[in-house]
Amino acid sequence: MKRHLTSMAAAAALLVAGMHAGHAAEALSVLHWWTSGGESKAIRVLKDDMSKQGYEWKDFAVAGGSGTAAMTALKTQVISGNAPSAAQIKGPLIQDWADQGVLVTIDQAATDWKSHLPAPIDQAMKSGGHYVAVPFSVHRINWLWINKADLDKVGGQPPTTWPEFFALADKFRAAGITPVAHGGQPWQDMTIWETVVLSQGAEFYRKALIDLDQKTLTSPQMVQVFETVQKIRSYFDKAYHGRDWNLATAMVISGSGGMQFMGDWAKGEFLNANKKADVDFVCAPAPGTAQAFTYTADAFVFFQQNGKKDATPGQLAMARTIMSPAFQEQFSLNKGSIPVRLDVPMDKFDSCAKKSRADEQATLKSGSFFPSLAFGELQSPVTAGAITDVVTTFMNSNEDAKEGVRKLAAAVQVK
Ligand code: GAL
Repeated sequence: MKRHLTSMAAAAALLVAGMHAGHAAEALSVLHWWTSGGESKAIRVLKDDMSKQGYEWKDFAVAGGSGTAAMTALKTQVISGNAPSAAQIKGPLIQDWADQGVLVTIDQAATDWKSHLPAPIDQAMKSGGHYVAVPFSVHRINWLWINKADLDKVGGQPPTTWPEFFALADKFRAAGITPVAHGGQPWQDMTIWETVVLSQGAEFYRKALIDLDQKTLTSPQMVQVFETVQKIRSYFDKAYHGRDWNLATAMVISGSGGMQFMGDWAKGEFLNANKKADVDFVCAPAPGTAQAFTYTADAFVFFQQNGKKDATPGQLAMARTIMSPAFQEQFSLNKGSIPVRLDVPMDKFDSCAKKSRADEQATLKSGSFFPSLAFGELQSPVTAGAITDVVTTFMNSNEDAKEGVRKLAAAVQVK
């Protein structure tokens, strides 16, 4: 009895302490676009962790792959004075929001982050030398996902070159399988186009998409990129227009589709459907891209609340939680990514994630670890948008490859 009373007293004391610190009552509104099966399972890990710490979670999920709709919703919220506690943002947009003077700094939570993060990602989380964003994980973009039973059925191998890729696509077609499962939305079109650019070599990617070098943008090699993309398109099914990415992944999961070009959140869908790497599906670097790595690193930024310039206890707790090794592991196990923290053990991960980690390390050294243009990591939204328009128009018309190149060069020059 006495012991019981003592523990009750201790619990009450804890509760009071929590309330003083503002913990118990703080509600965290969170804007994100993780709504597919695998994505929801991943963000639920954070929701549960924050609930365990006594915070209320107000979910503001805005559906739409790659966050296009979420970014519009965020602008509306901030303009109307309802900025969320946390929002999913990445790349140069982090800076843009910081420049607006509406974010809080989270240095207090970030005491040892620098030593645990890949340098370019650590850099991207800061503004004016202060941390304003916390990274979740590293997604590799230049993957090709293949249904294993389909592959075995046609006696194929994961293709390492474009000729091998097209030969496999022909075999799939002959077997009545849609060779390439695709969703015709601008960001998905960009995923394929950017990956084909990467297949021309690391130097080509750098000059074309990072330096926006006119000579490279108008080179015969760039004409080849457009031609390859055009040829890939001829292996889509008729219903690809507007299809969501996870529905395209579902085609490869069921085997009605043979392959998909997609970042490794696609793996989150396979796992959520109880499929296993190397048994039910194969991950392979897209043809010609084995020596390079295009990435996107999801992050949260935190908005000032009630006119106060400092981060709230809940915001700091969320930032600490996201970067904690245990969360990093579980989130990426569900999401399909790899932990952004370099000291998280990889033993619970499958062969795709292990390969991703090994290639991340190798390409960080070789200088071919590249931010993805398609996922807002590389250029300003204006430049990225101009390129996206050119690529999407090309992929949805009968435009000639040379015309695509001419428009690309012009679009980039205007910006
Ligand atoms: C990306 C994001 C991924 C994934 C994908 C599809 O922008 O980095 O985490 O969610 O969109 O929605």
